[in-house]
Amino acid sequence: MAIRKNARLELSAPSAKDLPDMLQLVQSSARLHRPWVYPPRTPAAWASYLRRVKRGLVIAYLLRRRDSGELVGLVNLNEVVRGALQSAYLGFYGHATHARQGFMREGLRAVVGRAFTLHRLHRLEANIQPGNVASLELVKSLGFRREGFSPRYLKIGGRWRDHERWAVTRESWKRRVPHNNQMQRTAHSSGESAGGRRR
Ligand SMILES: CC(C)(COP(=O)(O)OP(=O)(O)OC[C@H]1O[C@@H](n2cnc3c(N)ncnc32)[C@H](O)[C@@H]1OP(=O)(O)O)[C@@H](O)C(=O)NCCC(=O)NCCS
Repeated sequence: MAIRKNARLELSAPSAKDLPDMLQLVQSSARLHRPWVYPPRTPAAWASYLRRVKRGLVIAYLLRRRDSGELVGLVNLNEVVRGALQSAYLGFYGHATHARQGFMREGLRAVVGRAFTLHRLHRLEANIQPGNVASLELVKSLGFRREGFSPRYLKIGGRWRDHERWAVTRESWKRRVPHNNQMQRTAHSSGESAGGRRR
């Protein structure tokens, strides 16, 4: 069931019935994802992920196209810490078939907005490997700031990998809201309509 509808996307909570679409996304996007992310690729891994969502360890949003219902990506707010921190780690991945059409930026913008309003977070951190140009450009375009570099920070695909640390706070996000809205309007009025590939 849709939680929220955007111009081109529908946001929903992941569930067991999303398994076939999820497996299809993972199988057809391995070249886009690796070595940056290793999403759940078996029914057991998906069930284990859903248990983490249910326990409140992850706030998760599935992104589907409104025109076709196709799954275009997933955004996670991982390891939510409350109290004086009010923080979470941002994770995301898209579907190779729908890449470079602005869907992930639109979805991330919506989820980050909800993180700072509905979920009452104060800071989001995105740890990204230095060679992951697409993700670095994506978070930069959303207003994340580079805070530092963490050597051998996360074990991904069986290896400890260096990461750049990028973050955004609620205050800096709110200052960018008019800019973000303007970017969205410009994108749509310049032909980035539903299903319209820009390049
Ligand atoms: C990063 C990712 C989600 C982008 O998906 P996408 O569907 O292409 O995203 P969008 O179409 O919304 O692109 C938004 C912006 O991302 C950046 N971007 C995306 N792909 C890029 C690429 N190949 N090279 C450079 N920048 C890229 C651009 O700034 C782009 O804006 P533009 O098209 O106006 O130039 C996708 O490449 C992916 O799933 N990567 C693997 C997962 C990952 O790295 N997750 C983060 C781990 S921390």
